[in-house]
Amino acid sequence: MKQAHWWQSAIVYQIYPRSFQDSNGDGIGDLPGIISRLDYLAELGIEALWLSPVYASPNDDNGYDISDYRAIMPEFGTMADMDKLIVEAKKRNIRLIMDLVVNHTSDEHPWFQAAQKSKDNPYRDYYIWADGQGDLPPNDLTSVFSGSAWEYQAATEQYYLHMFSKKQPDLNWKNPQVRVEIYDMMNFWLAKGIGGFRLDVIDQIGKEPFRKIINNGPQLHAYLQEMNRETFGKYDVMTVGETWGATPEIAKLYSNPKRHEFSMVFQFETMEVDQVPGKEKWDSRPFDVPQLKNILAKWQTTLGDEGWNSLFWNNHDLPRVISRFGAEGILREKSGKCLAILLHLMKGTPYIYQGEEIGMVNRQVNSLAEVADIESLNMAQERLARGFTMAEVLAMINRMGRDTARSPFLWNDQLQAGFTTGTPWLSITQDYLTINAQRALEQPDSIFYTYQQLIALRKAWPLVVWGDFTLLASAPNVFAYERSYQGETLLIVANLSKEAAVFTLPRAVERVVITNRSALNDHQLELHLAPYDALAVVLEPV
Ligand code: GLC
Ligand code: CA
Repeated sequence: MKQAHWWQSAIVYQIYPRSFQDSNGDGIGDLPGIISRLDYLAELGIEALWLSPVYASPNDDNGYDISDYRAIMPEFGTMADMDKLIVEAKKRNIRLIMDLVVNHTSDEHPWFQAAQKSKDNPYRDYYIWADGQGDLPPNDLTSVFSGSAWEYQAATEQYYLHMFSKKQPDLNWKNPQVRVEIYDMMNFWLAKGIGGFRLDVIDQIGKEPFRKIINNGPQLHAYLQEMNRETFGKYDVMTVGETWGATPEIAKLYSNPKRHEFSMVFQFETMEVDQVPGKEKWDSRPFDVPQLKNILAKWQTTLGDEGWNSLFWNNHDLPRVISRFGAEGILREKSGKCLAILLHLMKGTPYIYQGEEIGMVNRQVNSLAEVADIESLNMAQERLARGFTMAEVLAMINRMGRDTARSPFLWNDQLQAGFTTGTPWLSITQDYLTINAQRALEQPDSIFYTYQQLIALRKAWPLVVWGDFTLLASAPNVFAYERSYQGETLLIVANLSKEAAVFTLPRAVERVVITNRSALNDHQLELHLAPYDALAVVLEPV
C-alpha cells in the first residue's frame, strides 16, 4: 500500500466561527462555543478543522479583513481560548487549519495606518499605490465586490489597490520585507502546533496590477516556494490554496509534491455549472449535470500522481449544496445523501461545511435589511442602479448570496436552534424544528450517519484513498464512476435529478457498501433509479 500523508485519508470540516456556537449569549459564535462542540465533531469522525478567520478584525468582510494576525477577535475569545482549542482538538485527533489571509490586510492594520500617512513612510511600500489619470483611477481594474479596485486617498493624493472591499488594501508581495513579516507570523502559528493553513485568494499575490494581471502572476509560484521553504515546509501539516481560476494543469503547479508548494488547492470550475458562461455568479442558469460530470472527471483523471484534489460542494462563500444541486422539501435528506455519496468516494481530500452533515439549506431573506454580506449589498446597489428590480436582486441573493450558508448552525429545536440564548447576529430563517443536529443524531437513518459512514470508509479503505477513477457512460442526469485498486472495483451511481432513470450495471454486485435506497432489487443488472438514488457497490471480480 502507498504511504499516505495524514491529510490524504482525512476529512476536513469547515467552521464559520461567527455562526457555529455562541457560548455567552451575545449572538456571536465563539471559540469556547467551538470547544464545547468538539465531541460532536469527533463523533462525526473528522480529523481536521478549518476555521474561517478568528484574528482581530473590524469585520468589514467578517474576519477576512485582518487588523492583527497575532491576536484573536475579542468577540471570539482570547489567545488562551485559541490555545485551549488546539489542545482540546488534538486530544480528539483533530488538527486545526488556520485561514491565512495574506493577499490583503484590513485598512485598520497598523501597517496600513502607517502607510497612508505619507509617501515616504517606511510602510508605504507594504501596499500598492499609484497616481490617478487626471480625475480617474490609475486604470479600470474592478474589485471582486463591485466598483473600481482603486480608492483615492486625499492625504497623499494617491490611490491604493483593493481587489476586495476598500477596507481590504492589497499587500505588495514584491516587497521582501512584507514577505519576511508574513513568514514570521506564519511561523508564530506553526509553533503553536496547528495542522496547517487554508490560504485565502492566494493566486492573487503575484499580481501585476499595472499590466492588469491579477491571478497567476509571474512571481506567484516563486513566492509560494519561498513560503514553503521559510515556513510550513518544515512541518507535517496540510496546506490548501483558494485558487478561483485554477485548471487541472495549474493545480499541478501548486500541488505536485516535487514542487514544494501546497498539499492541494480548491478548484471552482465545478461552481460554474449553473452560471451563464462569461457572466457573473448572480446570472444563473439551470444546473447542467453532464457538465458537472465532465469537470469532475477531468480533475479526477488529470491530477493523477502529480497533484492532489480537494473535494467540496459548498463553503462560506457558496450556497448550500442541497438548495443548489439537490432538492429542498421532501427530497432534502435523500438528495443530500446522494450528493455526499457521490463526492466522498472520489479521489482527494473531502471538505464538509458546517451544517452540510445535517442537511441545512439556504437562508432566505425578504428584504435587503436582512442581508449582512458586503458582496451581496454592493451587488444590490450596483444592479438596482442599472435597472434591475428589487425582486430580481433579492432572488439573486437568495440563490447565490453568501449569507445563504452563513446562518447559525441548527443544534436543536429550542429557542434560536440552540445556537445562542441571545439574538443571533444573522437570523435563523430555516425550519429548525425539522433540521437540527439533535434530531439527526437521534435518527439512525439520518444524513449525519451517511457522512459518518463515508468518513469511516475513507479512513479504513485504501481503495477510497488511492483507487483509479473512471467515468462510466450513463443517462445525462446519472453520474456513474468506478474506483479500482489492487483488483477490487467500487462502482458509484447517483441520479442527480427529480426524474426516475435507469442504469445498467457492468456486472453483478458482490456487496453493497453504502446507499440511500431501501433495497437494491438485486439479481438484476438493470437498476431502476428513483430521484436522487445513490449507491456504492463492490462489483464481482472480472
Ligand atoms: C476569499 C474568502 C472570502 C473573502 C475573500 C476576501 O474568497 O473565502 O470570504 O471575502 O477571500 O478575503
Ligand atoms: Ca459569543
